[in-house]
Amino acid sequence: MPFATVDGKQVYYVQQGAQGLPVVFVHGSGASHLIWWPHVRALADLARPVALDLPGHGKSEGPGRVTVDAYCDVLLDFLDALAFDRALIVGHSLGGAIAQTFAVTHPDRTAALGLVGTGARLRVLPAILEGIVSPSDFDETVRLIVENTYAADNLDAATRRRAEEDLRACPPQVARGDFAACNGFDIMPRLGEIHAPTLIVCGSEDKMTPVKYSEFLASKIPNSRLVVVERAGHSVMIEQAAELGQALAGFVRELRESRE
Ligand code: COA
Repeated sequence: MPFATVDGKQVYYVQQGAQGLPVVFVHGSGASHLIWWPHVRALADLARPVALDLPGHGKSEGPGRVTVDAYCDVLLDFLDALAFDRALIVGHSLGGAIAQTFAVTHPDRTAALGLVGTGARLRVLPAILEGIVSPSDFDETVRLIVENTYAADNLDAATRRRAEEDLRACPPQVARGDFAACNGFDIMPRLGEIHAPTLIVCGSEDKMTPVKYSEFLASKIPNSRLVVVERAGHSVMIEQAAELGQALAGFVRELRESRE
């Protein structure tokens, strides 16, 4: 099983494809590489896709981090560990905040960006921030997060159970750190510094990071385009995996052609 050493700790990742543009997938708060696994497999013939577990998540050693900047440092060390000079960074939610910060801080290492269900500022409901570490409110908070993470029509009983189990798999303090990192994130004034080609994707029914947030990204990031996916909420990569997969594959093909 592949691990990279980042800051002296083991960071787990999955990888497919041996050559071509490295594509590094970054998950959101309380999640793991598993949300990206179908997309990693789908891009195997086109690129070199990789998805990591951020510290403290999935199979990676902790501790988690509590700021987006600190997670951005992890991402830089991860690229170094895998000897990736430049990569397309694809991030969901918190992962998208990390990706934007990476692009602004390390433009020379950013081949392109994929910003999925995210925004340039990510204030978090106080009920989530506090409830996730409160033993008496934990169950209710997990339900609240899952409820807000899917479009109502996509949240059948099995999906709800699975999403709640996945969230419970993340240590509450790590999830709390993730949401605190989101809550402290605001890169609005710096979006014009992102010159990497950028694909922005948002579910039309996203309640956590509404379409307005993605429209803002698209209006401020010069070389960007926005795809709004119908019948999807915040978990667009799960709710409408095929449509997101097509958008990502098309983007990777365009990047390949522009490099040839
Ligand atoms: N892109 C564009 N506009 C944004 C934005 C973004 N990323 N983030 C905030 N804004 C806008 C808001 O729409 C709002 O505009 P308005 O005054 O015209 O309504 C304004 O900036 C201020 O919003 P915000 O910073 O969010 O503060 P708030 O006190 O109005 O709301 C919350 C705080 C937590 C209630 C709200 O952010 C929310 O409902 N968040 C979504 C749920 C959540 O917890 N998401 C987790 C994200 S990881």
